[in-house]
Amino acid sequence: ETAGPLAGKKALVTSGPTHEPIDPVRYIANRSSGKQGHAIAAALRRLGAEVTLVSGPVTIVDPAGVNVVKVESAREMLEASLACLPVDVAVMAAAVADWRVADAAGTKMKKDGSGKLPSLSLTENPDILATIGHHETLRPSLVIGFAAETGNVISYAKDKLGRKGADFICANDVSPESGVFGGDANTVHLVGKDAVEDWPTMTKDEVAARLASVIAARLDT
Ligand code: C5P
Repeated sequence: ETAGPLAGKKALVTSGPTHEPIDPVRYIANRSSGKQGHAIAAALRRLGAEVTLVSGPVTIVDPAGVNVVKVESAREMLEASLACLPVDVAVMAAAVADWRVADAAGTKMKKDGSGKLPSLSLTENPDILATIGHHETLRPSLVIGFAAETGNVISYAKDKLGRKGADFICANDVSPESGVFGGDANTVHLVGKDAVEDWPTMTKDEVAARLASVIAARLDT
């Protein structure tokens, strides 16, 4: 039994990177600490929601009171996320690898001494946000994605809203000079269908708390 504006509501949050195997000892990954996604899961929980956090490999601690499902690859993340539906709100904060190795080797790839280089053939991963945002029967009433860009942040986010079927995109500038990656601060623009809110630079915990209150206000109406 919990109190709070999100009591009785279910939330799904994805967080962290995905690891896409090349062979049993090597992988392709995105850069992601999981700090923002984990903070969102914790903030939704603090407002009373029943939260499932589907997390790729991270080194930070699980948020208290949250049901954490640990996955490695994008395909596992999709499967675990779909298994969580129906929910009232889905926040996709994971940095999912866009591609995986088409035919990952079952045994460790070896240098054969000839200097011949292996080549990797890639295939596209499923888009978890788009799958849930366009879900025909189980689309959550609120679907929120992130957009990490190094320029044209707002226009890319607006494009992503439609393409991925999201209600909001939290867009942030991840140019190397922004210090977002692995850091504690984030500068977010909350891009909705007909409005953009420019939030001041805040800690990832503050961004999470503010996003959770936007979610609570939306689900309340
Ligand atoms: O297209 P892009 O990767 O910039 O979109 C970012 C948003 O889409 C994030 O919310 C991310 O979690 C989500 N995403 C996803 N599955 C993918 C790629 C991105 O859920 N395969």
